[in-house]
Amino acid sequence: KQSGTYTVLVADAMSEDGLKPILESSEVNVVREKIDEATIPLEEVDALLIRSATTVTSEVLDKLPNLKIIGRAGVGVDNVDMEAATAHGVVVINAPDGNTISTAEHTFAMIASLARNIPQASRSMQEGRWDRKKYQGAELYGKTLGIVGFGRIGAELAQRARAFRMNVLAFDPFLTQSRAEKNHVTAVSLDEILEQSDILTVHTPLTKDTKGLLNEKTLKQTKPGVFIINCARGGIIDESALYDAVQDGHVRGAAIDVFEEEPAANHPLSSLPQVITTPHIAASTSEAQQNVAESVSQEVLDYLQGNPAPHA
Ligand code: MLT
Repeated sequence: KQSGTYTVLVADAMSEDGLKPILESSEVNVVREKIDEATIPLEEVDALLIRSATTVTSEVLDKLPNLKIIGRAGVGVDNVDMEAATAHGVVVINAPDGNTISTAEHTFAMIASLARNIPQASRSMQEGRWDRKKYQGAELYGKTLGIVGFGRIGAELAQRARAFRMNVLAFDPFLTQSRAEKNHVTAVSLDEILEQSDILTVHTPLTKDTKGLLNEKTLKQTKPGVFIINCARGGIIDESALYDAVQDGHVRGAAIDVFEEEPAANHPLSSLPQVITTPHIAASTSEAQQNVAESVSQEVLDYLQGNPAPHA
C-alpha cells in the first residue's frame, strides 16, 4: 500500500455513481469484496462501506485492526455492533436522508396495493382467472392512517396520505405539538393509535423499546379489519403474532418489506393470500441508492482526511 493512500472496502452492492467521491479521489484505493472473501490484507482497510447485508460484529472488527470508520449506506445501523465499534475506536456513520422519499413512496405503494388487492388480482390474471367480485377493495379517502414513529419517513408518508384525503394520526414519544401541527397530523398515544387506525404503519428504528411493539397483545387492541404495514425493520412487529392475527381475520391484510431474519425467502407470511411481501426493497431505487452511497463515501473521505463526521 502506498503511503498517503487509504483503502476503502466496499463490502455490499452499492451505486457506482454514488461512489464517485472515493472512486475519483487519488488518495483512495477502493476495493469491492465481501469481508469473508477478501483477497486484500484486511489490516490495510481504513474504512468499510456497507448496506444491510454485512453484519459487523466484534469478531469482524478484530480482523480490521486499522479500521477508522464504517459508512452505512442507509439509515438503520442495527447490523453494526455499536458498542464493539466504540470499543474498537471505530466511528460509525449513516446516511439518514438519502432514502427517505423512496421508503415513503414504497410504503404508500404498499398501502394502495393492500386497499385494492393489486398484487393478488394481478397474480390471479397471470394464472388465467377473471375474479372481479373477489377483489373488491376499499377507498383510502376518509380512512385513518396511523404512523408509529414520526421521523423523516413518517412525515413524508403523512404528506402523501393527506393528498389522498386520509386522516393522519402519529405516535412518537419525541413528537412535539408544533411539529404535529406543522405536518397536519394529530399526535396521539400508543393506545389511541392502535385503537383508531384503519391502516397502521411503523417507521421506527429497531431498538430494545421498539422490538415487538406490535405483538399478540397490542395487535388485539387494533381495530378489527385493520391493515398493518412494516417497511421499517423486521422485529418491530412480532411475525408469528401477525401471522395468527391475519389468519383469524382480525387483521384484514398486511404488507411487509422487512423481516426478523433476512434473507427471508419462503417466509410463512408470504404464504398468506392477505399478505403482500417484498424483499427489503423500500430503499432500492436508483435515486436513493445514489444518494446514500454518495453521502457516506463523501463523509468517509472527509473523515479520513481529518474532518469531522456529521452523521456519526
Ligand atoms: C435502511 O436502513 O436504510 C434501509 O433498510 C435500506 C437498506 O438496508 O439499504
